[in-house]
Amino acid sequence: MTPETLIEQAKEAMTRAYAPYSGYHVGAALLCADGTVYTGCNVENASYGATNCAERTAIFKAVSEGHRDFTALAVCGGKDGIITGAFPPCGICRQVMAEFCGGDFPVYLVNESGYDTLTLSRLLPCGFSAQEHMR
Ligand code: THU
Repeated sequence: MTPETLIEQAKEAMTRAYAPYSGYHVGAALLCADGTVYTGCNVENASYGATNCAERTAIFKAVSEGHRDFTALAVCGGKDGIITGAFPPCGICRQVMAEFCGGDFPVYLVNESGYDTLTLSRLLPCGFSAQEHMR
């Protein structure tokens, strides 16, 4: 699957964002090794801290359906769903990615004119990993 195809699915997921508090609509599309795609949007809550980001929605959907082997993630977002620049994943989402993905995992960050590819190791350098700390 091309990055462009995955990005189209992230944009479609963005239209389903539930974001009445911030107004920022975010979409993600996660490609699994077997070709399955899981999409996600941000789901906000009146108790703001209960909000779930688009990336984690997609990852949790995939894991809960039995997928743990991921190939790429596309992310897009913007105020009222209008993409004016990249919408980089928050720190918690980066940490959740690190639970399942290696440092070379590509994240396609959509911007107003196309997309940039960032690896997870660039997004989360020196990240925490249980295997390294629980020996
Ligand atoms: N948001 C995401 O969906 N993904 C991120 O990685 C960053 C933030 C959402 C959460 C909230 O609904 C809105 O963007 C503004 O923070």
